[in-house]
Amino acid sequence: MKRILVVCYSRSGRTRRVAEAIALQCDADLDWIKDREPRQGPVGYLRSALQALLHRKPWIQPARRPMGDYSLVIIGTPVWAWNIASPVRSYLGRYGDRCRRVAFFCTCGGAGADKVLADLQRLSGKRALATLALPRHVVDRGQFHGAVEQFVRRFNGQRGDSVSGARLAA
Ligand SMILES: Cc1cc2nc3c(=O)[nH]c(=O)nc-3n(C[C@H](O)[C@H](O)[C@H](O)COP(=O)(O)O)c2cc1C
Repeated sequence: MKRILVVCYSRSGRTRRVAEAIALQCDADLDWIKDREPRQGPVGYLRSALQALLHRKPWIQPARRPMGDYSLVIIGTPVWAWNIASPVRSYLGRYGDRCRRVAFFCTCGGAGADKVLADLQRLSGKRALATLALPRHVVDRGQFHGAVEQFVRRFNGQRGDSVSGARLAA
């Protein structure tokens, strides 16, 4: 039977919300990327932006789910300073080569999502079966379920297309 894992990092809950919706839609297991850096408040924000810009790979907790057991791993990240969030970079660095097939999604304020989705594919060394970018206002208004349905349909249909939540929500 096909097994799917959805894994993400989320600082303020939006990417996590989307991860939960995707997992529900495709009956997937869920895992969270956890680090131990303080990321709240202005100092935490700056630390996060700087780490992302400098492509740092902070310590992360060992993954609870062995991704080699899954036929597809769907990885989600918030966009930080036009870059992959640093804990997700750590996850890809540590486990990326164990993922057989991948799909990626991100949430953002509105800038840098295409670059981040391209970076994720480059870092993993794999072409994503599907990608999804969702602006945070779409997530906050709960208007992302149609985009998630389309995203899931793409990798269930094995095609490598991408889908933009911004366009779908308009
Ligand atoms: C440190 C930091 C840098 C960010 N940089 C960007 C950015 O370059 N472009 C953008 O569109 N949004 C940016 N954002 C906004 C987040 O991508 C957006 O709010 C996202 O939905 C947060 O996801 P989360 O709630 O899962 O943490 C940034 C947020 C943080 C905390």
